[in-house]
Amino acid sequence: MGDGRGDMDDINDLRATLLAEVTGAANLDGLERVRVATLGKKGAVTDRMKSLRDLDGAARKAAGAALNALKNEISDAIEARKEDLGDAHVEARLASEQIDVTLPARSSPDGRVHPVSQVLDEIIAIFGDMGFAIAEGPHIEDDFHNFEALNIPPEHPARQEHDTFYFAPGPDGERKVLRTHTSPVQVRTMQSTEPPLRIIAPGRTYRCDSDQTHTPMFHQVEGLVIDKSTHMGHLKGCLHDFVTAFFEVDDVPTRFRPSYFPFTSPSAEVDIGCTRKDGELRIGAGDDWLEILGCGMVHSNVLTNCGIDPAVYQGFAFGIGIDRLAMLKYGINDLRSFFDADLRWLRHYGFAALDLPTLPGGLAR
Ligand code: PHE
Repeated sequence: MGDGRGDMDDINDLRATLLAEVTGAANLDGLERVRVATLGKKGAVTDRMKSLRDLDGAARKAAGAALNALKNEISDAIEARKEDLGDAHVEARLASEQIDVTLPARSSPDGRVHPVSQVLDEIIAIFGDMGFAIAEGPHIEDDFHNFEALNIPPEHPARQEHDTFYFAPGPDGERKVLRTHTSPVQVRTMQSTEPPLRIIAPGRTYRCDSDQTHTPMFHQVEGLVIDKSTHMGHLKGCLHDFVTAFFEVDDVPTRFRPSYFPFTSPSAEVDIGCTRKDGELRIGAGDDWLEILGCGMVHSNVLTNCGIDPAVYQGFAFGIGIDRLAMLKYGINDLRSFFDADLRWLRHYGFAALDLPTLPGGLAR
C-alpha cells in the first residue's frame, strides 16, 4: 500500500473482487467460505483493518472509513446472497421430495390367511389371555400315548370309533398310528411337567373318514388344567368364557350334556345356543343347540398312567374341533373345501395377512 490514493484504488479493486465472489457463490457452503476469507479473523478485509495502524492521521481516517464501509457492504451482500441461496435450497428440496398424491394406492399383499390359521390364532389369543401355555406333540404316535395311557385298553370299543390310520408293524411288531386326537399331548405334558398345568395343544389329527363334515385330516385344540383344587365349575366357567369371546356375541348359552369318554369322568359334551332359519345358522340364544366340543374331569387312571398322584391332583380336559369352529363362525358349509387348495376359495374366505387377532383389537377384522 503506497499513498492514500493508492489505498483507495486498492479498496475499490478489492470491493469489486469480493462482490463478484459473493454473487458467484453457488451454494451456502461456498458463501460461507467467501465470508471467512473476507471478514474472518484472517480475511482480506480484516487484514487491511489491521494494517491501518501503519498509516498516520488523515490517511488512516480516510482508509478506515472506506474499509468500514466496504466491510458493511460485503456483509450486507453476503446476507442478501444467503437469503437467495436459502430460498433456492428449500425450493430444490421441495422439488426433489415432491410426491404425487393423485397416484393410486399400492395394492395390499396377495397372500391370505387360511380360516383354520385365523381361528387357531383367535383361540390362542383367548386362552393365552386366560394364562394357558401352548404344548405340542408328534403326529405319529404310539399306541400308549394315543390310547393306552388315556384309559383305552386294546379291546376297548372306543377304538372302533376312532377310524385309526395304522402304520405297518415295526421290527418290534408295534404298529404306530397317526394320532386320532390331540389328547396324547395331555399324556406327554403330564409325563414331562410337574403340576400345576394349564396348557392348550392345537394341531392336526387324522381319522379315516370323509364326507361334508369330515376330512381324513382335521384340527383339534386340546385343553388341560391340573392342580390340587380344580373342579367341574372351573371347567364350565372356562369354556363358557371361551365360547363368548370366540363368537363375539354377548350371550351365547352353553349346555353341558352328560357324555362318555374313557379318559374323563364325569364327561360332557358342550352345545351352544343357535337359531336356524331359511338354511342360515345364527350363533346366540335361540331355540336350537349345536355340539362343539367334548370335555370332562381327567380320569384318575389317566393321572396314574402319567405319573401323577390322583389323591393329590385333579383337573379337567377338553377337545375342540377347530375346523368346526371355523365353519360355524365364518359360515363355510363344506369342510372338504378347506383343503382343496383353491386360490379363489382362499381369496374369498381368507384373512388379511397382517391383521393378527387380539382381544382388545378384535379377533376378526
Ligand atoms: N379326544 C376327544 C375326541 O377327540 C375329545 C376330548 C378331549 C374329550 C378331552 C374330553 C376331553 O373326541
